[in-house]
Amino acid sequence: MKIIIVTLSIILEILNLKSVTAAYNYYDVVTLGAKPNSNSDSSKALEAAWNIACDSTGESTIHIPEGEYFVPKSLKFSGKGCRNSKINFVINGTLKAPSDFRVLQNSKTWVLFEHVNGLTLSGGVFDAAGAKLWNCKRSGKEACPRGVESLGFVNSQNIEINGITSLDSQLYHIVIDDCQNVKVEGVTISASGHSPNTDGIHVQSSINVTISSSNIATGDDCISIGPGTKNFWIQDITCGPGHGISIGSLGKTLHEAKVYNVTVQTSTFINTENGVRIKSWGRPSDGFVSDVVFQHLTMENARNPIIIDQNYCPNHNDCPGEVSGVRISNVTYDDIHGSSATSIALKFDCSSKHRCLDIILKNIKLTHENKQASSFCNNCEGSTFGNIQPKSCFN
Ligand SMILES: *[C@@H]1O[C@H](CO)[C@@H](O)[C@H](O)[C@H]1NC(C)=O
Ligand SMILES: *[C@@H]1O[C@H](CO)[C@@H](O)[C@H](O)[C@H]1NC(C)=O
Ligand SMILES: *[C@@H]1O[C@H](CO)[C@@H](O)[C@H](O)[C@H]1NC(C)=O
Ligand SMILES: *[C@@H]1O[C@H](CO)[C@@H](O)[C@H](O)[C@H]1NC(C)=O
Repeated sequence: MKIIIVTLSIILEILNLKSVTAAYNYYDVVTLGAKPNSNSDSSKALEAAWNIACDSTGESTIHIPEGEYFVPKSLKFSGKGCRNSKINFVINGTLKAPSDFRVLQNSKTWVLFEHVNGLTLSGGVFDAAGAKLWNCKRSGKEACPRGVESLGFVNSQNIEINGITSLDSQLYHIVIDDCQNVKVEGVTISASGHSPNTDGIHVQSSINVTISSSNIATGDDCISIGPGTKNFWIQDITCGPGHGISIGSLGKTLHEAKVYNVTVQTSTFINTENGVRIKSWGRPSDGFVSDVVFQHLTMENARNPIIIDQNYCPNHNDCPGEVSGVRISNVTYDDIHGSSATSIALKFDCSSKHRCLDIILKNIKLTHENKQASSFCNNCEGSTFGNIQPKSCFN
């Protein structure tokens, strides 16, 4: 009898434990040794939390409670060998990088996720303390390191990024490279309008990426789109200060994967360098851009609201012939209105080797200082629908 009872209680205990671990694994980084609001290094505790979550089966949550956590090294969260395919990072605190940029100078990325399948990152602030590096770069006096990207997602799938804030990156804020099925929503990105190379979100070699309801203020492109990007949806973005949303620079190399099926919708550009831009190097390349839609956009004092520039070659260095090999076709600009900070609101400066084809303008109304703006075309063919101001100059 006794033996039966003991066995039964052991079985119950096992069942009970099983149901707890399978249903919900919860790891608080403070319990694992992270120290909020102190100068001590919390990176080990963060990595420990990841390793435990990665080794567990069933949905796991890593919680970073309120407070500021000092992270003076580059963190690598690798999904290689993970048993888990549903890890949630719930962040209520701030991760803070050292303001001395030399500490991270040998790393490419401050917080890197790679080979991860199934991740949600919610809330929290990533403060990369980039101001000292920007000052170094802008002063031009000393040799400055390139800087680290703040948050990187590389070679990963099924990622959701919700409600995070990225502050003062040294280089790009968020990079999505070689990923599939990534959803970015409700993100706030903030850096000075004078911070060099601090692109908000850079996407390349990735399929099925969506970015929505986000506020991006920075010193370079709000969103930049590199080669190999397909099925990219961008919606409800407020951009500015910044350089706008840019496809490119493309065509730097001879062989390059194409950019295909990109939509930018219902977004606002405030005091930006560009609105929506497609940019390629004036160099030989087999690059390709097609099936792009820019729709329902508002420009408030953007310097170049609509621009295609295929003659990019800073300092006219290393661009034999200075002609771009990138083919651009089937790009629609639909319902774009507001103000241009320069007199040329529409600029299509295409390649003399491969003219831009099937550029479609529908219902455009852009003015300059409350007066008529003008347009500029070079090697560009297309058609117009509805009312177009300034008048198109397709040739
Ligand atoms: C912590 O962050 C999560 C994700 O953003 C949020 O849902 C939750 O309400 C936050 N909790 C507190 C106590 O602020
Ligand atoms: C991209 O999304 C489409 C439609 O949802 C899906 O059919 C396709 O498999 C996805 N591609 C990748 C590489 O995940
Ligand atoms: C284009 O991308 C969108 C998502 O951005 C997707 O829903 C649609 O199916 C794609 N179209 C093609 C033809 O792949
Ligand atoms: C042009 O691009 C649009 C939007 O992606 C797409 O629906 C359409 O099929 C493309 N047209 C051609 C002729 O490929």
